Amino acid sequence: MHLRISLISKISIIISVLSLPLLLILELSFQICFGFRHDSLEDIPSIFPSRLNYAGLKSHKKAWWVKEITPDFHVSGRLTERQLKYASEAGFKSIVSLFTYPAEDFDTFGSVPLLNTEEEKRVVEDVTGLQFHVVLDPMDEWASVEAVAKFTSLAPKLEKPVLLHCDRGYTITFIVLLYMANQTIHNTNFKPKIHSKEFFEIAAAMGYNFFDRIPLEVVSEITKEPIEKFTDKSVPKPNFQPTEWYDYWLAQPVYQNWFIAGQIYKSHVNLLKDFGYKSVINLRPGIIYKGKPNQEEVTLLNIQDYTGTYGDTHTPPRQSTERLLKTRLNPNLPNSYISKTSEINYETTNEEEFGDNFGYNSDLEKKVFDNQDLKYYHLPYDFDVQLLEFSEVFESNKELFLKIGNDGPVLVHCAIGFRAATVAVLTSAIQYNLPLDWALQRLKELGFGITQDAYPNVYKVYEKYLTLQKTEL
Ligand SMILES: *[C@@H]1O[C@H](CO)[C@@H](O)[C@H](O)[C@H]1NC(C)=O
Repeated sequence: MHLRISLISKISIIISVLSLPLLLILELSFQICFGFRHDSLEDIPSIFPSRLNYAGLKSHKKAWWVKEITPDFHVSGRLTERQLKYASEAGFKSIVSLFTYPAEDFDTFGSVPLLNTEEEKRVVEDVTGLQFHVVLDPMDEWASVEAVAKFTSLAPKLEKPVLLHCDRGYTITFIVLLYMANQTIHNTNFKPKIHSKEFFEIAAAMGYNFFDRIPLEVVSEITKEPIEKFTDKSVPKPNFQPTEWYDYWLAQPVYQNWFIAGQIYKSHVNLLKDFGYKSVINLRPGIIYKGKPNQEEVTLLNIQDYTGTYGDTHTPPRQSTERLLKTRLNPNLPNSYISKTSEINYETTNEEEFGDNFGYNSDLEKKVFDNQDLKYYHLPYDFDVQLLEFSEVFESNKELFLKIGNDGPVLVHCAIGFRAATVAVLTSAIQYNLPLDWALQRLKELGFGITQDAYPNVYKVYEKYLTLQKTEL
């Protein structure tokens, strides 16, 4: 990964005289810090062939809403111009739209306009410099063998990793998984192996029902498995409320009424109730936390993540001009990358994600929620590399989390979804009497794996509630 390599190479210059073991220790600590694969995760089973990392490649904060199917293929819903830039900053090399969106159709998500295909092509190719492709023509039927074949002919041309989208992530997942199923049959070296079993399992784990809602003949024709094999009993089906949770496709379904997200956008807040949520839990600390200023970073276009909100005695604050100039991802971008009228090539604040002049401001978020008919809870959980605050936050709010779970669909959010996953998986496991093994597997499938080695503090709390629960049953 780029981030890891650049950090390591800088450090290795400084310590090139030092020993190799030290370098390995440093590398390991960066892996834990930025969520890269931890060896002990290999032992936990998962439906996903290789999902071990947080979503979002190099920028978990900017692209938390992408979903990894394999390291080369990630999917999402329909993207705004800002999200396309985020995808580029996160390290995607190409963008694929399953559908053609004609210029005469005008759509928005929240109040933000969505791009038609012509506009998307311009933003992707001219502004971000990535590759852009469209799979289907306007009249093409997506739930068809022909649609999969069209993707099959495009796939080898794509620069990887690729971010593929449809409207809400459902259809493109169908196409990509069936492409892999077809390759599994035609190409002995192809990995991962996707048979109908994996096809339905992965879909269900991602919250998509491909059993009741698509022609099963297509699955049968591609997997070469008889259609009679796909029965109500043999095929795993997602069980989430709301069923159409992917109207808000950015979230990840955890279990039944529990969902997680990274930093939600201001323009999406007034959609959440219509999408079926009853409660939102925000875990990001406020401006002052435990008596100290504690604003987290807000994401900024063309600015690196993880550079520290306030700075220190040697370093000015993150959003000062001096620091912003130094922490640009690409100093050579034209000013038009930010907007038509921008006089600089980076962002200085981000209102859409509740940023102020220092960083993320939870008061700004709360104000927007004040006008909504939703229950909104702000339960701060400070982020550190080992999630040391988890036990304190969970123990002091356990009953409240369970009560919120009984009220209906819940969206738990933080910056990238990691803290949200630790809370949502454990609470749903307690609420629905699920064992520790389930919880550990689900965390790993969500991309936020917890092991005893990597996060002993979190693991202990899971073990306490879920093992105890098993012996009580
Ligand atoms: C299946 O794979 C073969 C070999 O790559 C390809 O020729 C064919 O078009 C594929 N079929 C579909 C439905 O993708």
